[in-house]
Amino acid sequence: MNPELFEILLDRHTIAVRVAALGVKITRDMQGSDLCIVPVMDGGMILAADLMREITLPLTLHPVKASSYGDGTTSSGNVHLPLGIPEGVSGKECLLVDDILDTGKTLEILRSRLLEAGAKSVRTCILLRKEYAKHLPADYIGFEIPDKFVIGYGLDLAGSYRSLPDIRVFKELS
Ligand code: IMP
Ligand code: MG
Repeated sequence: MNPELFEILLDRHTIAVRVAALGVKITRDMQGSDLCIVPVMDGGMILAADLMREITLPLTLHPVKASSYGDGTTSSGNVHLPLGIPEGVSGKECLLVDDILDTGKTLEILRSRLLEAGAKSVRTCILLRKEYAKHLPADYIGFEIPDKFVIGYGLDLAGSYRSLPDIRVFKELS
């Protein structure tokens, strides 16, 4: 599939400015905490890598792998954690970092599993929140976006396009 079929929704500069602002806010909010960044792989890895470098606090990194979408563009509703919950989160203040809030199931399940594993607290940071997910809470949100399927900056379509530096939305053919 041709990336030209996708128009830019958020360009790389706009994303970088917003991620830097989130880093400043998280740094301020989480002073003195035993901070543990939990990127949700694979989609959250790009945001986590950029965000971590904007947080000027000591922290540890405990990635978790989750999948729910299969190969389509609508959520399957089933969240799989093929590698389970990482060791070492007990007693820590966790910041779950994911690409997008869609149905919210991924973060809901991860939050309860981290607390079960002894995390002291769980906050959430997501880059994008879709219109129909507006009622779903997250502690840090990059951008509110329309209910369109998006790719790039970690977001995939059947495993492709994660490495595109801008976030793109499929062009309506009219
Ligand atoms: P959830 O439905 O909130 O649990 O979101 C689960 C996951 O679905 C996200 O972490 C993304 O990996 C994926 N996802 C949701 N919406 C999109 C989209 O528009 N493009 C690409 N992946 C998406
Ligand atoms: Mg995905």
